[in-house]
Amino acid sequence: MVAVQPLVSEFMLVGRLEDFVVSSKGRVKSLYLSTPEADYTIEVAKEQANVLSQYLKPGCYLKVAGMRKNKLHQAKISYKAYSIELLPEQATSSNTVIKTHKSKAQILVCQGSSCWNKGGRATYELLKAELQAKGIIDDVAIKTTGCLKQCKQAPNLVMPNRNRYSKVKPQQISQLITKYF
Ligand code: FES
Repeated sequence: MVAVQPLVSEFMLVGRLEDFVVSSKGRVKSLYLSTPEADYTIEVAKEQANVLSQYLKPGCYLKVAGMRKNKLHQAKISYKAYSIELLPEQATSSNTVIKTHKSKAQILVCQGSSCWNKGGRATYELLKAELQAKGIIDDVAIKTTGCLKQCKQAPNLVMPNRNRYSKVKPQQISQLITKYF
C-alpha cells in the first residue's frame, strides 16, 4: 500500500486576530485569525512564540505567513506560522476590506474530536438556541475552531475577552449568555 503524503505549500493571510492560546510558560501556541473569506486556526512555530504575547491583542490585524499542510487522508488542512507581522490599522488595501467587515462579539467552540464528541456539538446548538431566544443571534458570531490543546477538559469554549470555559455543561449555557451579553 502506498502511504498518502501531505501536500505542503506556503500561505500568507491578512486578518483580524480573534483570539490566541498561550501555554503555561507564556508561549503563544496558536492564533485564531478571521479574514473576510474564512477563519483560521494557525499553529505558531516555536521561534516566533516567545516574544509574541507582549504584542498581540484580540482585534489587532496581522499578516501571517507560513506553511500549509494538506493532510489528504484526514481531509484536513493545518497551518503553521513562521512569520507574524503586526499591521498598523490603515496599512494595506486588503485591510480596507477587513475594516468594512463587521466585527461582532464572538464565541469560539472547539470542534476538535474530543470536544465535539463530548458535548461540543450540543454546546454549539444550545448557544445558538439561547442567542436566538434572547433575540441577539445577529449580534454574536458562534464559530468553531480546531483543537485548543485542552482535550482532557472537553468540551471547551472561548467566550469574548478570551475567557475560556472547560468541561462545559448544557445547564451552564444560559448563564454564560446572560453573563456576557
Ligand atoms: S479537542 Fe477540544 S481541546 Fe482538543
